[in-house]
Amino acid sequence: MTIRSEIIGCGSYLPERLVTNAELSKKVDTTDEWIFSRTGIRQRHIAADGELTSDLALKAANNALEHAGITAAEVDLLILATTTPDNTFPATATKVQSQLGMVNGAAFDIQAVCSGFVYGMAIANNFIKAGQSKTVVLIGAETFSRILDWEDRTTCVLFGDGAGAVVIRAGEGGPDSPPGETGHNVGRGILSTHIHSDGSTNDLLYVDGGPSSTQTVGHVRMVGREVFRHAVTNLAGIVDEALEANGLAAEDIDWLVPHQANKRILDGTARKLGLPVEKMVVTVDRHANTSAASIPLALDEAVRDGRIKRGDLVLMEAMGGGLTWGAAMVRW
Ligand code: ACO
Repeated sequence: MTIRSEIIGCGSYLPERLVTNAELSKKVDTTDEWIFSRTGIRQRHIAADGELTSDLALKAANNALEHAGITAAEVDLLILATTTPDNTFPATATKVQSQLGMVNGAAFDIQAVCSGFVYGMAIANNFIKAGQSKTVVLIGAETFSRILDWEDRTTCVLFGDGAGAVVIRAGEGGPDSPPGETGHNVGRGILSTHIHSDGSTNDLLYVDGGPSSTQTVGHVRMVGREVFRHAVTNLAGIVDEALEANGLAAEDIDWLVPHQANKRILDGTARKLGLPVEKMVVTVDRHANTSAASIPLALDEAVRDGRIKRGDLVLMEAMGGGLTWGAAMVRW
């Protein structure tokens, strides 16, 4: 019997406080024009004082469970992708597990920065396919504002806070028809996941602190141009890899749900694919880069407003610190 991983619900949460580029330009030497023309960002949500990553994650997870029509009692694995955990330990996922009322199975955090959600998709899919988990809540949640250097205009304008989640459940019967035929009718669920990392590029995007190195939390540091260059190459590669693995062509994709780092990176990826920009879900203008939360936030928006429909072919892709990158191909 073939087991497949079906996404049966999604949810998200954004902190109430909105910070526009105009407001930021009162704090740092920048302008709305510079930020928008270089990144496509107009505003970002920022968590309130005392509002933690676990608070955002819990709201997104509850929202996703409600959308899926199930309770936390049915969940046997909770994965939280985050770079901004509440504490160094325990895993923030265990806090969310308890607040959610999940009593079975296990909860753990994963750390792949902006690629965290696609890494989580890979882990969830493999746990389900191995028969080890039946119902997984996968969350991407960040309070990235807490690790920004608010005096560094080259980074602080790029990021925001938020959370998104999906519920993934084991289904029976095969989407696993053999790859090879372009556009063949594969069933509903996660068709494939692909993850990569290259630690030799650690120094392009990192936080200059941590428990073992400085015993401080540290701030984001980035060589923006180099990250941009790697993003364009790595994302084109991962998209090709996902298409090839499924015997699909770019025109088969109904929706591209990319990690929302920068509108120029998004447009570059769509162009390379030959995909009309209307087939790409874009939230970076309103959310900025929310790291591991950006894909599930975008996904939730497009599912709830009716763009993504049952049966659509959805491709998610991301790149982040590490560098890490990955993709997930899903029949919705
Ligand atoms: N406001 C005004 N001026 C600024 C700002 C700002 N916020 N930030 C930098 N500048 C200035 C610089 O100081 C520089 O001035 P100079 O020419 O006098 O030295 C000038 O603008 C150009 O700076 P660059 O860094 O060369 O600008 P660039 O065109 O490369 O754009 C950016 C910078 C937007 C960061 C771009 O490199 C980028 O998007 N990189 C990708 C980074 C990314 O998305 N990271 C997110 C994490 S990874 C991921 O999620 C994929």
